[in-house]
Amino acid sequence: MRLRIATPDDAAAIATIYAPVVTDTAIAFELEPPTADEMRRRLIGTLGRFPWLVSLDDVGLVSGYAYAGAHRERAAYQWSVDMTVYVRAASRGRGVGRGLYEALLEELTKLGYAQAFAGIALPNDASVALHEAVGFEHIGVYEKVGFKLGAWRDVGWWQKTLCSYASEPVAPKAFDATGNF
Ligand SMILES: CC(C)(COP(=O)(O)OP(=O)(O)OC[C@H]1O[C@@H](n2cnc3c(N)ncnc32)[C@H](O)[C@@H]1OP(=O)(O)O)[C@@H](O)C(=O)NCCC(=O)NCCS
Repeated sequence: MRLRIATPDDAAAIATIYAPVVTDTAIAFELEPPTADEMRRRLIGTLGRFPWLVSLDDVGLVSGYAYAGAHRERAAYQWSVDMTVYVRAASRGRGVGRGLYEALLEELTKLGYAQAFAGIALPNDASVALHEAVGFEHIGVYEKVGFKLGAWRDVGWWQKTLCSYASEPVAPKAFDATGNF
């Protein structure tokens, strides 16, 4: 499996992977799948600050993606990120999610983030297994926090410590999307 930094031109492929999860499941809390143009805007916004990686299959098509975003925007939260991962249906269960997440965790650690979080709409055995496989620990549940597909949904939260700082942490570095990976 090959990985690289996403570019805005991956928007259509990423929107295609994401759309069925939005329309057919309660895993993603959006109700309408974003268009390729909207996904392009999200890519540009994220890549200005955080890593967004894609995995490529044997013929070079995007098979999955993972990215980070701010956990909360208030300044004291600046060392904490949320992580997200999606693998197209045909490529699941073959280590793609793990590969993307291990690489993303390494990038985030290099940038100087201290804590990574993931909110998982429950149930989602595959996502829970992936997060726990790479070292996330379950920390709690937001009960009935979203309503989708006719039911109230719980979101479980998982956390992984990336690095332990002393009392005076330095600000994390912005991701350089033009840099080497
Ligand atoms: C969750 C998801 C990203 C996992 O990616 P993946 O490429 O299928 O996962 P991997 O093959 O890398 O497996 C990672 C680990 O999870 C385990 N796992 C994967 N699918 C599983 C399943 N359905 N049930 C139980 N365990 C599972 C694997 O055994 C593996 O553990 P190991 O490395 O210790 O053997 C993928 O299933 C997906 O895109 N699902 C839909 C979108 C989604 O749920 N995204 C997460 C939102 S929070």
